[in-house]
Amino acid sequence: MFEYKVDDNISLKLLNKSDAEDLYALINSNRLYLRQWLSWLDKIKEVNDTVSFINNTRDQFANNNGFQAGILVDQKLTGIIGLHEIDWEDKKTEIGYWIDQNYQGRGIITKACKALLDYLFNRLKLNKVEIHCAEQNTKSQQIPLKLGFVREGLIREAQWLYDHYVNLVIYGLLASEYVNRDDEKC
Ligand SMILES: CC(C)(COP(=O)(O)OP(=O)(O)OC[C@H]1O[C@@H](n2cnc3c(N)ncnc32)[C@H](O)[C@@H]1OP(=O)(O)O)[C@@H](O)C(=O)NCCC(=O)NCCS
Repeated sequence: MFEYKVDDNISLKLLNKSDAEDLYALINSNRLYLRQWLSWLDKIKEVNDTVSFINNTRDQFANNNGFQAGILVDQKLTGIIGLHEIDWEDKKTEIGYWIDQNYQGRGIITKACKALLDYLFNRLKLNKVEIHCAEQNTKSQQIPLKLGFVREGLIREAQWLYDHYVNLVIYGLLASEYVNRDDEKC
């Protein structure tokens, strides 16, 4: 079972079918808050939809195309962090994330991203990681900025959010810019 310890309280784990009820309950209690920035809320109508999501994430992992991991705080599922896919030819990927409204502002997503960067650059040897944030989602943009990503530009009306388009700001971090690379530690 894939489980990655971030610190004493936080870990990331590949989800199982047995997590479907908890994930559904978590999404349900955060619907309005998540809808502001995430486009998939209306696709999750019943527990079976989270079962399908979990099955897809396990296929994604089995196909060596990245993963979606549950964020556990003291073993409680509080959010999801994952990769949209891995572009092996260009050695790059994009991180996405969300967390329970009640667990915001404790640095959990920043710490989870940091752990993921270590895995992506040091274990998978990728060359580039991107994070795409809606232009108005300043809270989310703080995360790549705190982690040393470079703002590379803005793509206009790149995401449809229920009834309007939003511009996306692209943040990128290169392996050569990442300060915790294994080859820099010696
Ligand atoms: C965006 C989100 C992932 C942040 O998660 P989090 O665990 O609260 O993030 P962290 O605590 O690690 O860091 C948040 C940073 O944003 C800053 N921040 C908090 N509220 C803010 C606000 N209203 N405006 C600007 N910055 C804000 C905090 O100061 C913090 O930085 P600090 O550690 O220097 O104080 C979370 O709010 C969320 O899930 N939002 C809904 C879904 C979403 O937007 N997903 C991202 C799509 S790109």
